[in-house]
Amino acid sequence: MVKRKTKYVCQECGYESAKWMGKCPGCNSWNTLVEEIEASSTTSKHTVNGGMKNLSKPEKITAIQSQKEPRITTSMMELNRVLGGGIVPGSLVLVGGDPGIGKSTLLLQISSQLADKQLPVLYISGEESTRQTKLRADRLGVTSNLLYVLSETNLFDIAKHINEIQPSFVVVDSIQTIFREEVSSAPGSVSQVRESTSELMKIAKTSGIPIFIVGHVTKEGAIAGPRMLEHMVDAVLYFEGERHHMYRILRGVKNRFGSTNEMGIFEMKEEGLKEVMNPSEIFLEERSQGAAGSTVVASMEGTRPVLVEIQALISPTSFGNPRRMATGVDSSRVPLLMAVLEKRVGLMLQNQDAYIKVAGGVKLDEPAIDLAIAVSIASSFRDQATLPEDIFIGEVGLTGEIRRVSRIEQRVQEAAKLGFKRVICPMKNLDGWTVPQNIQVVGVNTVQEALDTGLAR
Ligand code: TYD
Ligand code: MG
Repeated sequence: MVKRKTKYVCQECGYESAKWMGKCPGCNSWNTLVEEIEASSTTSKHTVNGGMKNLSKPEKITAIQSQKEPRITTSMMELNRVLGGGIVPGSLVLVGGDPGIGKSTLLLQISSQLADKQLPVLYISGEESTRQTKLRADRLGVTSNLLYVLSETNLFDIAKHINEIQPSFVVVDSIQTIFREEVSSAPGSVSQVRESTSELMKIAKTSGIPIFIVGHVTKEGAIAGPRMLEHMVDAVLYFEGERHHMYRILRGVKNRFGSTNEMGIFEMKEEGLKEVMNPSEIFLEERSQGAAGSTVVASMEGTRPVLVEIQALISPTSFGNPRRMATGVDSSRVPLLMAVLEKRVGLMLQNQDAYIKVAGGVKLDEPAIDLAIAVSIASSFRDQATLPEDIFIGEVGLTGEIRRVSRIEQRVQEAAKLGFKRVICPMKNLDGWTVPQNIQVVGVNTVQEALDTGLAR
């Protein structure tokens, strides 16, 4: 095999050098030189000569045939939804997450399910021997004939095996263990990870085989982590959850073939991951009904409404500055909502500590949860519980007004499905849709009105 030349390029200013240096002579920054494979000029398409045969041509957009991407649907509906309807042939998907969260388990399960559908699958592990993979497979009850496992880290050999087997689906676990011979730095370094990924991208695009790569997120941050790969791949899925919690959330953060911010929920069991079809039920399972400081909100996670409990604990500050802590919601929303409650409702919150928590370990990121947070805070402060069958939806503005939210009908339907009796929502959201049976909808214009309705007694 011909050894291709590499060069070192400064990531800050683009300075090129044949040798590695600690300090870039171009911009004087430290540790920014990264090894890259030099593109040989003979294979480059972008030479300025007339002799190019396959020159791409601009086309009229109306003349391009639009075709629906055929997708490989897995047996996991949660995964299909996060991917935007299934696996797109020729796509390169990065599955990131903390070590030990269950990435290998998830991908081995998907591999076996696809193999059961008579699609040959190649599962490449650079971390485990084939025997270790087999142990895991036994635990998961995998008995597929068409599932090939390979323990290999050299990308050149991996490419050869993909070419030989011609699988319908490939998993590379993990990208941090894969290396290319041409690059001299160690596996897991920025150069190796990047060059290997771009080679896998090429394989996926030319062969049409979808490839899923695993990337560990390092606590230290972006170095050699999947972050730097995000712009290179077609889709990025993050697998999150608390190690000691059984629930795992698969979240799309980038998707060239579908919407992002979709979320799939799984439960880690003894015999592998199981889909959670109705997340609202599990998030409300341990709710302490009738306790002050607890409210339920219907939040949209992608296209799906999820009901989640929001808890607040307000207690007098003992020393100095009051504390404002939030888990699961944007921590800058809490002081803002407390200021609104103080100024517009007249609650004396300035010498109170506030702790806000979203139960179940989910992260909520949309303005429609404002009202539920505000009502929880007021409820805990006044030590007065909300009704257990009430739901609060609405964005809170700085003048204390309740602003319109999106997809109110779906949210209310989900609430009705789970047996809630009353929805307190923005007045401006009341028109143009039909209220489901068995649930009452109350429109409010201000936070004060919401508290009068929800905390009346
Ligand atoms: P793993 O898939 O190896 O994590 P990652 O590839 O992200 O590093 O998952 C490891 C954890 O999952 C480990 O703590 C054991 C647990 N586990 C189960 O609870 N049930 C199972 O069936 C399997 C295979 C793993
Ligand atoms: Mg693993």
